[in-house]
Amino acid sequence: MTDREEGFHYRDGDLYCEDVHIGDLCAKHGTPLYVYSHAALTGQYTALAEAFEGSDPAICYSVKSNSNIAVVRSLARLGAGADIVSGGEMHRALKAGVPPEMLVYAGVGKTDREIGDALAAGILLFNIESVPEAYAIDRVARGMGVTAPVALRVNPDVDAQTHRHTTTGKKGTKFGVDIDRAVSVYKELNELPNLDLCGVHVHLGSPVTTLSAYEVALDRVAALVRSLRDVGIASVRMLNVGGGLGIAYRDETPIDVGEYAACLRRHADDLNCRLILEPGRFISGASGIMCTQVVYRKEAGHKTFIIVDGAMNDLIRPALYDGYHAIRPVVGAGRDTETVDVVGPVCESGDFLAKDRDMERAEQGDVLAVFSAGAYGFVMSSNYNSRPRAAEVLVMGAAASVVRERETVEDLTRGESIPPALLGDG
Ligand code: LLP
Repeated sequence: MTDREEGFHYRDGDLYCEDVHIGDLCAKHGTPLYVYSHAALTGQYTALAEAFEGSDPAICYSVKSNSNIAVVRSLARLGAGADIVSGGEMHRALKAGVPPEMLVYAGVGKTDREIGDALAAGILLFNIESVPEAYAIDRVARGMGVTAPVALRVNPDVDAQTHRHTTTGKKGTKFGVDIDRAVSVYKELNELPNLDLCGVHVHLGSPVTTLSAYEVALDRVAALVRSLRDVGIASVRMLNVGGGLGIAYRDETPIDVGEYAACLRRHADDLNCRLILEPGRFISGASGIMCTQVVYRKEAGHKTFIIVDGAMNDLIRPALYDGYHAIRPVVGAGRDTETVDVVGPVCESGDFLAKDRDMERAEQGDVLAVFSAGAYGFVMSSNYNSRPRAAEVLVMGAAASVVRERETVEDLTRGESIPPALLGDG
């Protein structure tokens, strides 16, 4: 990481996000609290964009990784597009100022309504995941008198060595069509008058830390595009390589962005195609932390539990994927370490942020930072156990803005009602 990208750093044992003291920020806004660094977000985007300088990729930030409109806006201002998977994400992206012609729309279950809204907005591309979906898009487009730009998502059968819940490029997942069937599917779709078969899409899974997975997949995709051209389907001019670029949560060695760009550019240039990228975690992952306060220390058996006010409903990655997130005090870091479990108050033993973790001693009342929580953190949070969701803050230099308010208990029951028959006694 270069200095430019480094949003979080310690000064004399206290954690800062850019120029904001995290301990003070938490005292003001409470915990659990998500904090994002604008400099880190934009630095990561810029690092990627610079690696592609001289070519003209559409860098479509994957909104699912962190969909706060202030985050999306920060990137849209630099020219980012957006990778969206629902009408809700399209709403956010447009609200944040992403131009419609920079939107790519993925997802295995697009409804007619979502398709119609996206066509009306004038998006860049649909990534289609199945033959029935292609027919639906063609039908909706015909009804509107327009042509829909589409890329078929192919499953290249490459094992990118990601967690089983986030592997998508292997045979047997619900995503895309098998690459060996792709020529015949393109031939069939070529008959649909309201589709422009302008692209091919591939996404391997997330997070990916081996460049060879991309090399192998793109070789297979390139062979497919050549076969298509051989059979007279010459409309493919966009190569959408998806997202997946990993980050260093612990001791992983992420893919070098320069090598990644070189690999992608070589394939796109050979095919004379425009590149589309869908990076999420690479941009938002290390740009955010979740702050959480120690409620109690509890000794049980030979274990020490640090019970914090942030739980699996706030950050589910440890529970769902055994995800590792570094955890350190926000004030007075540099203490002796001990081995602990960091757990939340939710009534499940799967509710943990760290297990058997060697970390700096944390006392009751201390605030801890859970690092690299900017991607798939707040967006995957829920109200389980009727816990109001955390607030989100965006830091720009010395300024900190609340970009999503903490939910209240009133928010929890909004939209619920008791039928009249249940009102009154008995
Ligand atoms: N494009 C497609 C088609 C995707 O399915 C995804 C992520 C991305 C792009 C962005 O991937 P990224 O660059 O962020 O790796 N919740 C999981 C990750 C789920 C990824 C879903 N798809 C986690 O917390 O690890």
